[in-house]
Amino acid sequence: MEKRELLYEGKAKRIYATGDQNVVWAEYKDSATALNGEKKEEIVGKGVLTNGITSLLFKKLHQAGIPSHFIEQISDTEQLVQKVTIIPLEVVTRNVVAGSLSKRLGIKEGQPLKKPIVEFYYKDDALGDPLLTGSHIQELALASVEDVQLLKQRALEVNTVLSSIFAEIGVRLIDFKLEFGKLEDGEILLADEISPDTCRLWDAETEEKLDKDVFRRDLGNLVEGYKTIYSKLGGRQYV
Ligand code: C5P
Repeated sequence: MEKRELLYEGKAKRIYATGDQNVVWAEYKDSATALNGEKKEEIVGKGVLTNGITSLLFKKLHQAGIPSHFIEQISDTEQLVQKVTIIPLEVVTRNVVAGSLSKRLGIKEGQPLKKPIVEFYYKDDALGDPLLTGSHIQELALASVEDVQLLKQRALEVNTVLSSIFAEIGVRLIDFKLEFGKLEDGEILLADEISPDTCRLWDAETEEKLDKDVFRRDLGNLVEGYKTIYSKLGGRQYV
């Protein structure tokens, strides 16, 4: 498989064409962004960690019967994935109150939810990724009622599998964001990435943050927490 022209550059990844029209080449960058791109930094080694963790998690999800666009990891920072058209929705699943939910509902961070909550945000930087109701999604024609139901169901399935993967390594999955895409035949597949950039992960004993909140809130170097997650999941061991 060869790397051809750049198709798209996002905040954390570059997507290149390959010789196969159904496959694209994803390259994970070292940049970290927060506050809708207002806060930005190059963090050496981050791309290796987000690529490695995403690859491991997509493999584990596949073993648990949850398909995704992931095909294979081809280098420290690169993977081959199926070409999909991304649905412009960020699907956030929450187990514990944190981040924007804490602000919106006035509940302090750390309070477990009675049951997982799935939310949809409009993937639109200019609007600041606003929270959407089902009616907004229909008005904007972003996804059909059936597709929204399917995304919610898939998100809850992913939550069950990921929560248990993280519980086994002594980490609490607080919340996470997923993106989905459509293949040409209309099939919906889990896509994008799953890493400490897109999940809140707390050490189950100490509640230490092992995710991007370390960067968002200026709590130190995010790479340390990402290395802990990667090593505990069975990836590269850092000493
Ligand atoms: O900020 P908020 O509390 O809404 O974030 C919920 C979850 O979604 C967090 O795990 C965060 O890392 C993730 N997220 C993301 N990309 C965004 C917004 C949120 O990965 N643009």
